[in-house]
This record gives sequence, structure tokens and C-alpha cells, in this order.
Amino acid sequence: MMSNYTVYIGLYIKDALEVINRNSKGAVAVVESDGTLIQLLTDGDIRRLILEGYALDTKLSGIVMKRQTITVEIGTEAHTAKMLLDEQEIDHLVYVNKDKSVAEIKHRRDLDPILLSSPHMGKDELRFIEEAFNTNWIAPLGPNVNEFEKQVCEITGAKHAVAVSSGTAAIHLALLNLNVQQGDYVLCSSLTFVASCNPILYQQATPVFVDSEPNTWNMCPKALLKAMQHIQDMGVKPKAIIVVNLYGQSSDMDSLIEISEQFNVPIIEDAAESLGAKYKGKHSGTFGKLGVFSFNGNKIITTSGGGMLISDSKEMIEQSLHRATQARNNAPYYLHSEVGFNYRMSNILAGIGRGQLNVLEERVKRRREIYNRYVEGLSSITELEFMPELEGYYSNRWLTAATLNPNKTEKKVTELLQHLAKQNIEARHVWKPMHTQPLFKDVIYFTATEHSVSDYLFENGLCLPSGSNLTDTAQDRVIQEIKRFFE
Ligand SMILES: Cc1ncc(COP(=O)(O)O)c(C=O)c1O
Repeated sequence: MMSNYTVYIGLYIKDALEVINRNSKGAVAVVESDGTLIQLLTDGDIRRLILEGYALDTKLSGIVMKRQTITVEIGTEAHTAKMLLDEQEIDHLVYVNKDKSVAEIKHRRDLDPILLSSPHMGKDELRFIEEAFNTNWIAPLGPNVNEFEKQVCEITGAKHAVAVSSGTAAIHLALLNLNVQQGDYVLCSSLTFVASCNPILYQQATPVFVDSEPNTWNMCPKALLKAMQHIQDMGVKPKAIIVVNLYGQSSDMDSLIEISEQFNVPIIEDAAESLGAKYKGKHSGTFGKLGVFSFNGNKIITTSGGGMLISDSKEMIEQSLHRATQARNNAPYYLHSEVGFNYRMSNILAGIGRGQLNVLEERVKRRREIYNRYVEGLSSITELEFMPELEGYYSNRWLTAATLNPNKTEKKVTELLQHLAKQNIEARHVWKPMHTQPLFKDVIYFTATEHSVSDYLFENGLCLPSGSNLTDTAQDRVIQEIKRFFE
């Protein structure tokens, strides 16, 4: 006679309180024996009754006020439900099934937006910003910038680093380090965010896209080998290979490095999404000739906007520092002998970065926990297959990504995303592969077989809310809505 949301009218105030205690909604639906709703009873109602002198063993039938309860059908969109709460100036809604039985109770906060990945500050960021203000280091240089670079090197094991205004700027500087110029060939993972390859176009170079492999979702070594052989047969030597570590997971670096060495073409590791991840015990981002991190607002740690270029080559990092600060030569006046950029990171933002680095390990741990909670909570939905993590890989699980297996369900990712959006839950498609973008319509693309893995991952893949500040309750809401979608 009691569920998580209902209590039978023949029971007592104490029983109603027990349900409220269990469901953490602050309310319970009092029902007839057939489950029909009589009215909603909030913990505030009960508090008032007790103050009036009612005892815990008072029968609910003796106290229930014939007050109208607002109900909505299960599946009602979050914004409609929220409007109703506002109009009625109430905090709870009873959701009913088609047969009018009570399905659940939602509190106002259960309708709040759940974001994909929002910034999550620690306790030290403000202190470093304040220090910058107090010492008037409000410039794209200063002690926070130096310290931020030093700490990223210490954490990742990189030898040298330069903090810049974005991950995109870092990729651009990396291409300049490798002397990428007009007409040069640069290979890049196709399944990525456009920022990985936009800098190839800044240099008027020619991108060549390479497919993913199903194990890591990242660049497929067999497809890369095919691409390299094809380009070699054209009599051309590419200038760089941009290997992207998607959603916090390293690529198969051993195999990719072997190919890069075989053809003597350096790797730029786009680790914008994989700071804190490891491959065979070594930090993601440190495998290429150059590595790139992003501190954009949605990343595992953020400086609101920012990036870093790392390398074991002191010369390359010094060159990049020079170019990132307008390529000013050492002279008593403004002297310039090559093109420069205004790419340096501000000392204020580097202060945020220092604070965020202090919690990086915690953030990785929490994101991995969130991934594991999804896998466990959705284990009954066999149509949903999560991005794997092979032995020797340690993903930071920046975003929990999964695919809907089209052999197991007719349902489409777009439908699931729409379903979640209606409940104010932000989930996203997996990146749309670069070889399918109008911007790159004439670019050549290599796959290992006739089957394009990146196209499959895009058509069937999605990313779920994964912010390290996502609460268990909010995540349970996502899990419940995904389950409802498959029911
Ligand atoms: C794979 C990848 N590369 C590059 C970037 C560019 O970083 P930023 O936004 O800091 O320019 C991002 C993120 O935005 C990214 O996800």
C-alpha cells in the first residue's frame, strides 16, 4: 500500500512521513486502495498538522484536506511543468500514468537544467586571482602564468610548456613549429571538433582525414598507414599528423608513433580533451613531438578560456612563446622579422588554472565515477554500448560517450537527445566527422576497410551529462529518463 511516492489513505501520518523520508521529494501522494490520487501531502502540511496537535498515529483519512492537487501526465515537458509550478505558485507536481495512477512526484528542482559539462571551481582559484590583482599583474604574463606552465610540466612530465589563449591557438603554434605552409599536407583524425583542423586552414595547408578505430574511437593505425602510403605514392611528404584523444581517452599511441617514425612525420597530440588521462602509465599529451591542452569552459579543468602547448623541445616552446607575443625581436624598439600572434594567456586566467590543477586528480576521479554510475545504472539497456577503455588505458572520462547499437534498436540517437532535451537534460551528438563537413568537402579521407567507423560513431553516438559537479540525484534523473525512452 506504499510506494516511493504514495501512501494509502487507511494508513497513518507516520507512514506518510516515512515515504517522504525515503523519496527525498518533500511530499507524498495519498491514494485510494486502487491507487487513485486523493491529494498531495507535503512535509510542510504535516508540520502544520503536528503543530495543531495531531499525533503521528493519526489516520490519514482523519486529516486529509480536500485540496485540489495539480497533476500532469508522465512525460510532460520540463518547461511546461515549470510554467505550471510558477502559475500555481507551488513546488510539487504529481505525474500520473495514462490510467491515472500515480507515477511519481517532482519537486521544482527536479526540473532544473542538467548541463553536459559545466565549470567546477575548487577553493584556490580566487586566491590566485586576488594575488594577481594585489600585485597588479593584470597582463598576459606574470607569476601565475609561469607557475601554471611549471605545474602542468610537473604533472604531465612534459619538459617545456607555453600557456596560450586557447587550445586552437596552441594547435596553430604547433603547426608553425613544424613549418607547415601553404600546400603542405597535414593528416588529422576525422572524428573531432573542428578546432583540431581549423589551424591547418589558417596556414592554407591541405588536410587529409583519417578514420577512427572502434576500440578507442581515435585514429585508426591501419587507416593512417593507408593514408601515408597513398600520400607517399603521390610523391609528397606530409608535415604533421594531428592525433586527437577524444572524450578523454588516449589513442593507440604505440602503433601511431611507429607509423610516424616509419615515414618520419611528427605527431601533434591534440589532448585538448584528455588532460589527466594516461596511456601505459604515461600522461596523455606527452607522446607527440608537441602536445596541446585546452582549458575551455567545458573541459575537465578550465581557465574559462585557454590552452597550453607542451613539448620536450625547448627550442620549439621558445619559438612558440615568441610567436604568441607578436614575434617581437630583442631590440630597444619594436622590431619584428616574422609574423606574430597575440596568443598569450592572461595572468588572471592562469590563476584560475593554478587553482584548477590542484583539483585535477579529484575531477578525473569524479568523472570516472560518473561514467561507472551510467554503465551500472543503464546495464539493463543493452542497446546502449559505452565507449570502451582498453587495458593499459586510463581515460579521464571527460564525457561519458556511448552508441545505440542499430542492430538492437530501431530508435535513433536524435530521438533520445530530443527526449532528454524535453526534460531539460543537455546531451549531445558525438562530433560530426570532418570529412562530412561542408567546410572540408574536397578533402581526402582514409578508412581501414570499406566501413567508416567515424560515420558509425556519429550516426549512433551520444555524450551524456558528465560534469564533475553533477550530483548523484541529477545523474539518476538522466538515467531514469533514458530508461523511460527505451520502455
Ligand atoms: C579535440 C579538441 N581540439 C581542440 C579544441 C580547441 O580548444 P579551445 O576551445 O581551447 O580552442 C577542443 C575544444 O574546444 C577540442 O575538443
